[in-house]
Amino acid sequence: MTSPDAEGCEWDFEPDLESWGGELVKGAVCLAGPQASISAKNAHKECLRRGVGFGHTFTSMENNPANTSRRDFIKTATQATAGLSVLSGIKIPYVHAQGDDIINVALVGCGGRGTGAASNSLGLKQGTRLIAMADVQENRLEASFNGLSGKHPDRFSVSADSKFIGFDAYKKAIDMLRPNDVVILATPPAFRWVQFKYAIEKGVNVFMEKPICVDAPSGKRMLELGKLAQAKNMKVGVGLMCRHCRVRGELFDRIQQGEIGDIILGRAYRLQAPVGTCFTHPRDVKTDPNELIYQIKNFHSFLWASGGAFSDFNIHNIDEICWMKNDFPIEAKATGGRTDRGDYVDQNFDHYSVEYTFRDGTKFWLEGRNAFKTHNEFASYVHGTKGMAVVSTAGHFPSKAMTFKGQNKNPKEIIWRGKQPEPNPYDLEWQDLVEAIVNNKPYSEVERGAMASLVTVMGRMSAHTGQLVTFDQLMAHDHEFAPNADKLTLDGPAPLIADANGKYPIPQAGVNGLYEYPVQKA
Ligand SMILES: NC(=O)c1ccc[n+]([C@@H]2O[C@H](COP(=O)([O-])OP(=O)(O)OC[C@H]3O[C@@H](n4cnc5c(N)ncnc54)[C@H](O)[C@@H]3O)[C@@H](O)[C@H]2O)c1
Repeated sequence: MTSPDAEGCEWDFEPDLESWGGELVKGAVCLAGPQASISAKNAHKECLRRGVGFGHTFTSMENNPANTSRRDFIKTATQATAGLSVLSGIKIPYVHAQGDDIINVALVGCGGRGTGAASNSLGLKQGTRLIAMADVQENRLEASFNGLSGKHPDRFSVSADSKFIGFDAYKKAIDMLRPNDVVILATPPAFRWVQFKYAIEKGVNVFMEKPICVDAPSGKRMLELGKLAQAKNMKVGVGLMCRHCRVRGELFDRIQQGEIGDIILGRAYRLQAPVGTCFTHPRDVKTDPNELIYQIKNFHSFLWASGGAFSDFNIHNIDEICWMKNDFPIEAKATGGRTDRGDYVDQNFDHYSVEYTFRDGTKFWLEGRNAFKTHNEFASYVHGTKGMAVVSTAGHFPSKAMTFKGQNKNPKEIIWRGKQPEPNPYDLEWQDLVEAIVNNKPYSEVERGAMASLVTVMGRMSAHTGQLVTFDQLMAHDHEFAPNADKLTLDGPAPLIADANGKYPIPQAGVNGLYEYPVQKA
């Protein structure tokens, strides 16, 4: 760990930009690397400048809170119990049936983003209250409980009886909700269809994080489930929050009105140091006795759990370009590879390059990379016949969206610049969802979220297989990474099996046809 910087933060790893959720522990120890890029440091300072609350502490792969030690867990659990004794004295009226307009919220998946999303929901003007929490890891639930009860004491009504642990915990949390309430689904995406299906059976509204599927079969299932939810008049939000950014919304309108002519090219970059759990060391049975929980803790490393680093990180930029183009691509032609990564056992390539083609023949290039000491950029651009537009500048927000005459970002040629400061899109996505609930307006982001997730899968599949993949080929593909995601148990096997050396199948372009890795026999 290096000496603290001017903000009192220590840097020993690149911050996990993706997991901020727009929030960050104020004054948190920031574990950014000695080689932390300028952009990461600036982004972090921006977070401190905004005085944002909690929701995520920066983590290195080695310091992931998923790996909280037993000592830390006992400390957290003790604090949480102390918090509960205070909270259990608070009586919150339960009068929904008599016209109470409070919306109850249940959180499933109490990690970084789930905690952030719950916090966004509890920060709304509309009365909301968190009443249940579910996770498969007790230490994650307790840490989240601790943080949320401290930040939103007036909106927090979770007790020992409404904290649930295990693979069926989501059912118990959802069972506590009434029809107009909301469940947050923020586990790794492998479980999205399982938990969404149950929420539909129970008729509760849903906020679910992206991606919402990791392969074609689960994507098709989500599209079908989305229709069922709509038929039941459920309101469903999907965590592609940039779609709720008002400045990008204005940019979209300007582009549709022809401000930069017809779009002929999109470019998106997610070039960063390794973040989250995208690189993973072999399991050490002493610290990680349970193979399935080890894979869940390191979900960015396993295609069944997350769709890998490609799906988890790149989907936002892919979705932004598709939004501006007002269409989804029909074909992907990609390359990628894995440099020497020592004994890391994850299934990810560390660099990807995708050429997407839209129906009208126009192209969209995506560059994704997780590597140290390389150029960092987290931005999206579109080019039209009369000019170009910045959709994202550095991360999710502020977008600092702009349009220019011509193809350069020439300050002398600016046509329009989005009004600053921009509201946090992680708050806006909740405002929009809850407004739809309160006014009973139709609201479903499932089709759009599934399409963004599937188009992301198409690019990843093309890179991992080395084949040109059309959307039709993707949708006809049968490789479902975790068909048994609804049947997993804490003491059961994981969907991916390691070989005798503790290694997992890594995609090899040109080797397995359109399969990203050989289908494993149980
Ligand atoms: N919209 C965004 O900007 C954004 C940012 C970060 C993460 N995300 C998304 O949020 C999701 C979670 O990411 P994260 O960074 O919070 O991960 P995380 O590891 O911090 O949290 C995931 C939590 O889910 C729990 N979990 C796993 N399987 C479960 C199951 N079957 N039932 C109940 N709990 C289970 C884990 O124990 C963990 O506590 C991912 O889909 C990710 O892509 C979105």
